Amino acid sequence: MDSFLIQGGQKLTGTVDVSGAKNAALPILSACLMARGVTTLHGVPRLSDIDSMIDLLRELGCRVERQANANTPAHGGPALNGPLQVEVTDAGQSEAGYDIVSKMRASISVLGPLLASRGKAVVSLPGGCAIGDRPVDLHLRGLRKLGATFDLNGGNIVGTVNGRLKGARMYLGGAAGPTVLGTINVMCAAALAEGETVIVGAACEPEVTDTANLLNKMGAKITGHGTPEIKIEGVDRLNGTEHRIIPDRIEAATFIIAAAMTDGDLKLTNCNLNHLVAVVDQLENIGVKLEEKDGVVRVTRAGGKLKPVELTTQPYPGFPTDVQAQLVALLCLADGMSVIGERIFPERFLHLGELNRMGAHVRKEGATAFIHGVDRLQGATVMASDLRASAALVLAGLVAKGTTKINRVYHIDRGYEKIEQKLNAVGARIERVNEKN
Ligand code: EPU
Repeated sequence: MDSFLIQGGQKLTGTVDVSGAKNAALPILSACLMARGVTTLHGVPRLSDIDSMIDLLRELGCRVERQANANTPAHGGPALNGPLQVEVTDAGQSEAGYDIVSKMRASISVLGPLLASRGKAVVSLPGGCAIGDRPVDLHLRGLRKLGATFDLNGGNIVGTVNGRLKGARMYLGGAAGPTVLGTINVMCAAALAEGETVIVGAACEPEVTDTANLLNKMGAKITGHGTPEIKIEGVDRLNGTEHRIIPDRIEAATFIIAAAMTDGDLKLTNCNLNHLVAVVDQLENIGVKLEEKDGVVRVTRAGGKLKPVELTTQPYPGFPTDVQAQLVALLCLADGMSVIGERIFPERFLHLGELNRMGAHVRKEGATAFIHGVDRLQGATVMASDLRASAALVLAGLVAKGTTKINRVYHIDRGYEKIEQKLNAVGARIERVNEKN
């Protein structure tokens, strides 16, 4: 199992490339199950979650090939990956088993595409994970409205369609608001259904929009994506196409916070600030300066001490839950007390205890974290628990006095492409060490 050893105290300066978005690439790969012919995707990040999805697509009868890219960027940093091609060559298999779903929850995104294109899907029911329960009731509710039926058999969701799915009007919101992958599952299935589907209470995340854009290039007729009401006119077939995945807004936010925490001067390429309006707004309140010129985003500190803030995570376009942990790491260094509520995943606070081991002063009441700023953090041995919590520990390690050891960095490898190579190229000192156990 790999660990990171981070020598804190280096300012980050230089240019870093943002990768394609993991959370767009995963459902987009699933959507390729519905196309006839080859789909070529650009900007698919090299991550263990993507590797798991590729394994799953191969089990489901797809040919998946990735081209290597040896070209390192002129400004330094690692080469990112070349295009990836997906083509269905055998549509006989419709089962996503426990082994793969337990590794990667996003496997649930094959459910809608399989039902729509193969009339059958067996997908292991994802259990909870470190950030909470993660139910899929809304996915099933939406797909049932389109005519699918479901049974639970030995921990598997067994879905079938009698004939063809039929368009329907539905409300897809839940107690915590809309669902990102649930919206995408229903939207994918409706793309091949007979007639019109309207999803009211749809998720508005850029990853939903990117998937809709891909489907439209394949021949789907989707409008309203990016708003709470998506309209889908079903078509008879979808064809392979070419598509570039949007930049990863969560990775970008993580680098922006890294620059701010280390008082650095960082430039980000392939960064879309339009997807980060709420994050930028809060970071500016805290004292981070962001300038955009010729498609490059420059991050520096505005000067003076970092200011505390109060906010709650919300569905897009609100402040994303996927940046909550990284924001908490930043606020550990603010001048005063911040209050951060977690509305999407109320249990997503495993980073707090680890940050306290590094000298932070954070406590939690219910789904709210109270963060008393401290003058500095100190290196310690800490444990990565989930993807974004791990990113928060990397950020803390970058500024902590001395050495921070982060165990179980496989969590980070699920969602950050070549993170230590990218950060080391702009001045960080992170070493990956492998310990056999
Ligand atoms: N929910 C339900 N029922 C459902 C589905 C969701 O009650 O059937 C609830 C969830 O428990 C949660 C809320 O609805 O309270 C939102 O969950 P959502 O379904 O939107 O989450 P998701 O689609 O499973 C994606 C991202 C997550 C990200 C969330 C929220 C992918 C692969 N995952 O998950 O990303 O936190 O949206 O924005 O797209 C990450 O990248 O670290 C990550 C966890």
